[in-house]
Amino acid sequence: HSHLLGIEPLPPSAISEILDLADQYVALNRGDMKHAEALAGLTQINMFFENSTRTQASFELAGKRLGADVMNMAMQASSIKKGETLIDTAMTLNAMHPDLLVVRHPHSGAVDLLSQKVNCAVLNAGDGRHEHPTQALLDALTIRRAKGRLHRLNVAICGDIAHSRVARSNILLLGKMENRVRLIGPPTLMPSGIADFGVEVYDDMAEGLRNVDVVMMLRLQRERMDGGFIPSEREYYFRYGLDAEKLAHAKDDAIVMHPGPMNRGVEIDGEIADDINRSVIQEQVEMGVAVRMAAMDLLARNLRARPREVMA
Ligand code: CP
Repeated sequence: HSHLLGIEPLPPSAISEILDLADQYVALNRGDMKHAEALAGLTQINMFFENSTRTQASFELAGKRLGADVMNMAMQASSIKKGETLIDTAMTLNAMHPDLLVVRHPHSGAVDLLSQKVNCAVLNAGDGRHEHPTQALLDALTIRRAKGRLHRLNVAICGDIAHSRVARSNILLLGKMENRVRLIGPPTLMPSGIADFGVEVYDDMAEGLRNVDVVMMLRLQRERMDGGFIPSEREYYFRYGLDAEKLAHAKDDAIVMHPGPMNRGVEIDGEIADDINRSVIQEQVEMGVAVRMAAMDLLARNLRARPREVMA
């Protein structure tokens, strides 16, 4: 593969290859010398058209730890504000010969479109409601390390599924690796036709969480709810917020995950989020750096192996 645009095109073997390499980078990141040379001589540009804490910071750190020259475009201060289009901005940056472009954009499909216009490797850091592939990969690595396997697990994804690229990428990845995925949330926040993805759908937390190995909580993504149904926070927490009582329906050793940013007291109780015996939220962040190192390393190997086309 020359880009990482989504989980959808990846075969299970490619997913395992990224996770296996990421495992090696976890060890490097825990060591005293957090540096390798896999991206030495390469230039990485991060273009985030939407806010980010975890994804942007970890892509930057991942590139630096692998020896790349990393540039963060301050999109709020760029000429996008003067009316330049996404494609013109991308073509301008492309003329500076980057090797890796990391892009987050509010519109589904925007990163895919951009990848067709540039002659470097493009990584999708989240596009609209479409995909967030490195998030699903870091979630998969967290699950594999906590549970010792990434197949035949019962995984519940809870909350605002309709607006979530994280849910979509996770549903695709967990399905490819032969896990059973349950979606739990209010029917108003369930995408239509979701049953076609081979998932089970519940609107009751107690029922949906019964005997699951993994509980993945999602934030209400108000920024994508353009005028539609927005539940009150109190009501939402009462029915769908993860607290000790609801978590008791899951397996005794079930892990609790959240991609962040989390809203304590809305979709998750603060004590559950901080419970080091159940919550792997901090491990997810740690795995994020390692997975992004692995993804960029593998794309760079591909770049070095093939002469690049010169685009008009
Ligand atoms: N999980 C995630 O994508 O977080 P950020 O929006 O902070 O990058």
